[in-house]
Amino acid sequence: MKFSLIWAALVNPSKLFSTALTLIVVDRRPDTGTSSDASFYPPLDAISYITNAKHGTYGGIFTAPADEETEKIDGTYNYCTMPHPSPDLYQLPSPVREGSVEAQLIYVEYMQRHQRRTPYNILPGGEDQEYHCDNVHITAGSSSADSSLIPVPMYTETYKDSKNPFTRQYVNGTCQYPQLTLGGVLDGYRHGRDLWAVYGEQMKLLPSSPDTNNVWFRASSSPLTHASASAVLRGIWPDYDGSLPLHQQAAGIDTVDQGFPCPSRSQLLSTIQSTDEWNQHLAATQDLRDRLAIMFNANRTDWMSTFDHFADNFQGRLCNGYRLPCSLDDPSKCAMEDDAYAVFRAGDWEWNYWWNRNQKASHYIQLTEGLFLQEIALRLTAIKEGTLDRVYSHTFIHDGDLGPILGALGIQQLRWPGMAANIAFEVWYVKYSVGPSDLIWKSSPDFLTRQTSDSEFYVRVLYSGHPLRTSEGKLDWVPFSKLIQRLNKHVPQDIVGMCSS
Ligand SMILES: *[C@@H]1O[C@H](CO)[C@@H](O)[C@H](O)[C@H]1NC(C)=O
Ligand SMILES: *[C@@H]1O[C@H](CO)[C@@H](O)[C@H](O)[C@H]1NC(C)=O
Repeated sequence: MKFSLIWAALVNPSKLFSTALTLIVVDRRPDTGTSSDASFYPPLDAISYITNAKHGTYGGIFTAPADEETEKIDGTYNYCTMPHPSPDLYQLPSPVREGSVEAQLIYVEYMQRHQRRTPYNILPGGEDQEYHCDNVHITAGSSSADSSLIPVPMYTETYKDSKNPFTRQYVNGTCQYPQLTLGGVLDGYRHGRDLWAVYGEQMKLLPSSPDTNNVWFRASSSPLTHASASAVLRGIWPDYDGSLPLHQQAAGIDTVDQGFPCPSRSQLLSTIQSTDEWNQHLAATQDLRDRLAIMFNANRTDWMSTFDHFADNFQGRLCNGYRLPCSLDDPSKCAMEDDAYAVFRAGDWEWNYWWNRNQKASHYIQLTEGLFLQEIALRLTAIKEGTLDRVYSHTFIHDGDLGPILGALGIQQLRWPGMAANIAFEVWYVKYSVGPSDLIWKSSPDFLTRQTSDSEFYVRVLYSGHPLRTSEGKLDWVPFSKLIQRLNKHVPQDIVGMCSS
């Protein structure tokens, strides 16, 4: 692989530098409020964000067509189809763009939530609309790895049996909830085409065919992320005619999607959800929750204790061309747009509280995502040290994974990471640099050593296509070791012990 030779020469000097170099280059230009990523960072510290109906969707988009790809994906927060690196949105990191460094992109660690889908949570009183999925074929099969047994290619087809008496209290339709909708599948294909345009055509990083020696794919054990991977990877490599390995860990101990057992994780969540601040947000939304509970027969702890289920149900509808639900008992009572927007704002507030704002967020992140954060940190380090020959890893996961990862990175405000929300860790190898970094180098004690090399590794973190805004500025150009330190702050020393205690 092409970087191995230079690496061999650079590993040692760069190791010497990384400890002494403490500069974190961040973009501190004031936020004018007009940039397309402003919709990602609402005032989530305030309960009034939830209760003030004037906030509406806070610039976000919560609707998408049923059976077509999302027409316009700009940089705006879009719950149904989050923006991603695309030719319209992608910019080189500012020092590279401004010419103060000459640098090459050598590796991308990409992770994303699956595309838009039907809901997990069917209204307890039953649904008044049918969901159609007969336009999507979910394929699956098993073959012997040596190809001696070629299976019949099969797809699943969900049907309804009119004799099944439970349909009325459930939902009448042809979906296997929470499966991807056709719109989700098409959005996935588009996501992949855009990734190719940026990291293939423009940056020349991705190989023209998926050579498994230097690209790697992983998913959670959920059929959703598997389905998403097959659509996105088809977008990246439209003409590839082989099959590809999608790596998974065993579901019961998976390091993503809360796979490994961790009783203390749920205990900690109960503590987090009993603070005064948490209770204030529940009190502020009591009327709304009571009204919805009566309308949809949903006065149950799982529907009332957080906004997860109502938000999931309403998003599933609006993001796939359906309308908001009405009561089955009294069709004149319906969830209104303002109700849905209040539910979505409350959902945003909760996500920010869980992964960012509460006092125990770091501990909660460790118990949930610490092992996956460690995998990322180790992989990035192996890339820097030249011990891993790879240009691209892509992991298909869930909102419940992206939340803690963004929390660990120090995101300024965390809105609920929408469908196909994504994070790209870009590793850049600096060939030559002038300007501010030189000043730092010259004033440091090991100036002489530093002068012998122009090399350094930097990382840029994009969240849904934009450099991630953190409390310390944008992660547009961060010394490699700084980023690893930040990730390692959330890597547990003894996760087995922490989880059982
Ligand atoms: C489901 O929908 C079909 C037609 O779309 C209708 O004929 C049937 O009665 C419905 N079943 C129930 C249980 O609502
Ligand atoms: C929900 O159930 C609780 C406990 O049974 C009850 O106190 C409360 O009034 C109910 N709320 C609504 C809106 O029915």
